[in-house]
Amino acid sequence: MSAPLRVAIAGLGTVGTGTLKLLVEQAKLIHERCDRPVVVSAISDLDRDRDRGVSLDRFSWYDDAAAMVAEADVDVVVELIGGSGGIALEVIQAAIAKGRHVVTANKALIAHHGSALAAAAEEAGVSLAYEAAVAGGIPIVKSLRDGLAGNRLSRVYGILNGTCNYVLTQMRDSGRDFDDVLAEAQRFGYAEADPSFDIDGVDTAHKLAILTSIAFGCPIDFEAVHIEGIRHVSTLDIEFAGELGFGIKLLGIAARTDAGVEQRVHPCMVPLEAPIAHVEGVFNALVAEGDFVGTTVYEGRGAGAGPTASAVAADLIDIARELHAPAFGVPVANFESIPAAPMKDRVGPYYVRLMVVDRPGIFAEVAAVLRDHQVSMESVLQRGRAPGDPVPVVMTTHDTREASMAVALELIGRLEAVVEPPRMIRIEPLHGAEQGRCSTPRKTRRIRAVRNPARKSWQRTPTTLLRRS
Ligand SMILES: NC(=O)c1ccc[n+]([C@@H]2O[C@H](COP(=O)([O-])OP(=O)(O)OC[C@H]3O[C@@H](n4cnc5c(N)ncnc54)[C@H](OP(=O)(O)O)[C@@H]3O)[C@@H](O)[C@H]2O)c1
Repeated sequence: MSAPLRVAIAGLGTVGTGTLKLLVEQAKLIHERCDRPVVVSAISDLDRDRDRGVSLDRFSWYDDAAAMVAEADVDVVVELIGGSGGIALEVIQAAIAKGRHVVTANKALIAHHGSALAAAAEEAGVSLAYEAAVAGGIPIVKSLRDGLAGNRLSRVYGILNGTCNYVLTQMRDSGRDFDDVLAEAQRFGYAEADPSFDIDGVDTAHKLAILTSIAFGCPIDFEAVHIEGIRHVSTLDIEFAGELGFGIKLLGIAARTDAGVEQRVHPCMVPLEAPIAHVEGVFNALVAEGDFVGTTVYEGRGAGAGPTASAVAADLIDIARELHAPAFGVPVANFESIPAAPMKDRVGPYYVRLMVVDRPGIFAEVAAVLRDHQVSMESVLQRGRAPGDPVPVVMTTHDTREASMAVALELIGRLEAVVEPPRMIRIEPLHGAEQGRCSTPRKTRRIRAVRNPARKSWQRTPTTLLRRS
């Protein structure tokens, strides 16, 4: 019988405990699949006494992960502590230096140190595996790195944060506002006590930076990711999006363009006919486009003890089978240095909502600013007039350069009749772009809303479609 693969787990929180349980419960299955046992021999956490629902008696215990790496005689160190540096980085560096394979779920750390760690791992002849770091239970790292290795990828995009997708889904379904739904997500355990990394798009950006490196064979460049979160998305915009034939999703998008590599995270309006528009709640989904394979779509749970442990186990099984791929799909020496495509050069359609005091001439003023900055309107919708109240005016544009849109919005925001900063959400045509088409859906439902002062809500009546070119 082949020698067992001996594993040390650093950090017995949500993912560490889930991984330990999986490796214990599925030991026989994994043994058969690898033709050798995968055994946990050492574990480490700050707190031994916490009830984790699994007996820790048979494992060597260490109060500190650094001591475990220094002393335990193992083949693989699994880092499940978290954090972009600190003890997690120390543990991984020390493990590589000792010739141990490394498995981690730590996207923040890989996004910041992945290229350097991959170089160190290659030099030491060990694996650096991190399937669990991106989209939890969806085997997307393996799919891009190995399954699509015969393709040149042109674009990878997806919903990479379950908290944001849950909040946006609930806002749409319940009509409740962002703060209310976020508080509920925190009560249900779908959002952290400090949700800013998720809500502000940073978590998605960490994962996107990793995927970009795998997709395009370039060093990780987290600093180049344009990041916007979902705090400014309102129920009113979600409602208008539905009327225009779109859903709103926080997407991470990486694309190879003539200008270089584009990496951006922001709320997007996606056509309702795109599969990704129907990925709801805490689920994640990814789309990868390759030159030979075409479009491939992946969906599943992006977090939680079970799905994340499943990904950690997959990495351990690869190592037990002695399958050692370069961490990002190409040896570090073969990384291609590709310039970052600036966000200001993004070209695409936009959704813009203005809150205006309805008075004669206001549309002419807005239209003049747009014309002066080469922004061409595709459609304009105005909701019903309520004397004295500002009314929402919604516009969609034809393809426009980001820099032009930004200047136009700045100037429109200064107009006297515009009473709030303009709200802008980028429209991502997705499938339209594949077919060389770049337009908003044709079937705008003609619905308009008027303010009901008694209920402080909008009632639906036919919309005024002012213009559709
Ligand atoms: N949770 C998920 O669904 C999920 C999904 C995908 C990826 N991940 C990633 O997986 C990693 C772990 O996440 P998690 O949710 O499991 O975190 P967690 O529940 O906070 O677990 C981390 C554990 O490490 C312990 N720890 C801290 N310092 C340590 C040290 N010096 N030595 C040994 N143990 C130490 C912590 O103890 P204390 O609690 O006492 O500090 C805690 O028990 C993170 O990188 C995260 O981004 C998580």
